[in-house]
Order: sequence, then C-alpha cells, then structure tokens
Amino acid sequence: MNSEKNWLEYDTELMVAQDKEKLWHHMKSHSCFKSQEQMIVVEGKGLMIKDIRGNEYLDATSGGVWSVMVGYGRESIAKAVYEQLRVMPYYAGAYGTIPSIKFANKLVELLPGLDKVYFSNSGSEANEKAFKMVRLASRIDPARKGKYKILYRDRDYHGTTVAAMSACGQFERKKDFGPFVDGFPEVPHCLCYRCPFDKTYPGCDIDCARAVEKVILDEGPDTVGGFCVEPITAGGGIIPPVKEYFPIVRDICKKYGVWIIMDEVVCGFGRTGEFWGHSHYDVDPDIVTMAKGLASSYEALSATAVKQEIYDIFLNDPSAPEERTHFFRDISTYGGCTAPMAAALESTRIIEDEDLVANSREMGKLLMERLGELNSLPWVGDTRGVGLFCGLEVVEDKAGKIPVTEAQMAQLMGNIMAEGVIVGRTNSSLPGLNTTLYFVPCLTVTAQEIDRMVTAVEIGLKKTFE
Ligand SMILES: Cc1ncc(COP(=O)(O)O)c(C=O)c1O
Repeated sequence: MNSEKNWLEYDTELMVAQDKEKLWHHMKSHSCFKSQEQMIVVEGKGLMIKDIRGNEYLDATSGGVWSVMVGYGRESIAKAVYEQLRVMPYYAGAYGTIPSIKFANKLVELLPGLDKVYFSNSGSEANEKAFKMVRLASRIDPARKGKYKILYRDRDYHGTTVAAMSACGQFERKKDFGPFVDGFPEVPHCLCYRCPFDKTYPGCDIDCARAVEKVILDEGPDTVGGFCVEPITAGGGIIPPVKEYFPIVRDICKKYGVWIIMDEVVCGFGRTGEFWGHSHYDVDPDIVTMAKGLASSYEALSATAVKQEIYDIFLNDPSAPEERTHFFRDISTYGGCTAPMAAALESTRIIEDEDLVANSREMGKLLMERLGELNSLPWVGDTRGVGLFCGLEVVEDKAGKIPVTEAQMAQLMGNIMAEGVIVGRTNSSLPGLNTTLYFVPCLTVTAQEIDRMVTAVEIGLKKTFE
C-alpha cells in the first residue's frame, strides 16, 4: 500500500470555512469576511493565477508584493529545491553549505564594489542586520565612535519589525506601534509630483537631496552612521528620484562618513529594468539589502551585502580580552536553510539566461507609454515608474491634485478585478494618499499582457468615476 500523503488534495468548502475560522491574513480588516469570502489562491502559471472557485486572473503584482520575478510554475526551481533538500536541508549559518557559498559568490559577482554576504530570511531582517552593523561599528571602531543614528526617508518602508518601523516613512504603517527605537531621524521624500518644498524640477536645486545634509548637521555628524534608503520608493507611491538626487546624497554621505544602506528589497533582481534599482544612478552603496525577488519568493531568503572595509571592522582579536566580543554577534536560524539558496541560484539563472532584465526594460517602456495614454483621463494625476515598476496616481481633481477617497479606491480595485486583472495600490501607508495604483508584473510579461492590464484599468477608472 502506498502510505504517502497527497499534499495537494483539498476539500473546497472545508478550505473556505477553515480560512474564515482560523487564518489571520496580512494587512486586512477582517470584519469584511463576515459577509465576504476571502480569495484563496491555488495555482499559478506564468502571470496567471487561479482561485479555489476556478476564477483566473492576470496578476500584475508578482504575487501581491512584487516578488515572483520569474513567474509561477517554474519546475526547475521546484527541482533544485527538491534535490538540495534530499542531500542537505539545513545547517546553521556558522558553517558553510554548498548553496550558500555558491549564492554568496553569485551575489558578489552581481554587485561590484561589495564583497561579503550575510544571509537571513526577510527584508526586515536584512535591514535589521544593516542597522546592527552600523550600531556595533559605532561602539567598536574608533573612527566611527558614536555614529549610531540611521537616517530614513519620508514615504520609504524598510520592514515590519520595531527597529525597521522606526526607520519607516509611512505614518499609517507605524501609527500606534510606538514608542520606537531611538536614533532614526527622517529626511524629506523626493516625489516631484508632490514636492515637499513646493518647487518644480529642474529649477529646485534638488532641495530634497540637499536636505540630507541639513538633517545630518542638525543631528550632529558625529552621531550619524547610516542612511537607509530605497533606490526607488516602492510602497510609498513608486517614486524614482531625479538623476541628480543620488550623486548629491552620495557626496553628502561620503563627506560625513555616513554609510548608504541601499534597500533593494523591491527594486533588486531586474524589477526596474536594471539588475539593481541603484544602477540607474551614480551612487556607490556601502551596504545593499535584498529579499523578495532574491529567490522569486519560491522560498524565503534575504541578504545583507557589505563592502570589505565594513566586514573588516568586525575582525576582532580573540586573544585580546577587550576585543573578544567585537565580531558581528548576530544569528539567524533560518539563514542556514539551504533550499532558499538553491531556489535563488535557479531563479537568478533563469533571470540571466532568459534575459529578463532586458524584458523588464522593454516591457517597462511599453507599460509607461500605455499608462501615459491614460493621462488624458480626468482622474489620472500622475504616471511614473522605471522598468516593470510603475504607478498611476488617482485624483478627484487634476488641477488641485486632490486625491480620491479610500472608498473610491476600494471600488476602483473591485472594478479592475472584475476585468480579470489584479493590480496593486498604496495600502495603509500614507494618510489621505493611499491612491496610487501599482503595476508590477513578473519579468516575463508580454506586450499582450501589458495591454490587458492597462485596458482593465481604463475600464475600471471609467466604471468608477464616469
Ligand atoms: C523596500 C522594502 N524593504 C523592506 C521590506 C520588508 O520586507 P519583508 O516583508 O520581507 O520583511 C519591504 C516589504 O515590502 C519593502 O518594500
């Protein structure tokens, strides 16, 4: 008798009932499920997903949070994971494993100027590691004594843990979770459409970038050790900075010995039409953090990559009693799981072999062109983006840039979904401004799929507001 369980079997009604009874979903007010059924996703192939009732959708969100880079249903990733699990599923990160060595080498090859890779499991954790590096260095490195503060930017997001929330520029995400960790000053955002200085590019002298120096001086340069920043703000409204922004920030940070922690959790792995989001800019990050697309979210994996000179700060002398604890005293149990590294190696191979970064660039251009055509509609305030990372800000009044309401946004999302397309939106991030739609499809997207997305949005906008 075959005693193996078939893990793929399920009873539809039982799943629907148990979802309601036992499962607590992310970022949702559950009161709506008293009357509504939650969507349960059961299958995916390419960009298409199917729910438990058999409905099919074109997913323009790469899995809801922009992370399934190579599309659904990749047998070769499943195979790589299976084979690795059979041979060696786990050993703590204090030791090497074959996939962790191979993937660390791959990342260093992909990241010129960075030399060492530290693995963990989520974007939040990857950023926490970077914060801990800044803080530990501020205690043990005489040249960086006291430089423990880490700047973050308004509208940026760096994760869900309390320290990552302390570095969060999205008020609705952090509201009511304080008190926060000390030492995280904020700098202004860089969205031209809603310029924090009420200026217009290029006549603005890029004040948003220059403001970083002012904050460093106000805080005291001897106390500031890092600036954690998204290359292109994601959940805060898809905000590609103007080209001058990062060179100015780079020079300011160099001047005051502030490490740039580039949060590539969303932008990395081809999302923006370059392998890294920061490759669009003349900037030289000291630390790069990444997650999401790292293993195309077939497995959970994140990484914190650093320059050699940062790694060297933590090379202690164990025979010197005062230095005994001067190594990077950090641990991540699941940073030792080998299946995520196998998945990441295979996902990265697919991105390279299928030239998906080029596809992201080309299809991204088409997506921006098609979204640009919607600019003539009265409810489209702004369209912006780079590669397959595009947004459309919905407004009630174009001239006054007055945003629509949360209720109108919910209605719009429903109307787009009724066309068989799932797009994203700013979600509980910015008070009164959760009004940007997101188009962030898998990197394999075709011109026909782009067309379907934009058509669905046009129909949804007209149905909601006309
Ligand atoms: C830019 C950025 N950094 C960090 C994170 C946190 O990643 P995770 O949810 O894997 O902890 C996110 C999550 O959306 C993100 O968008």
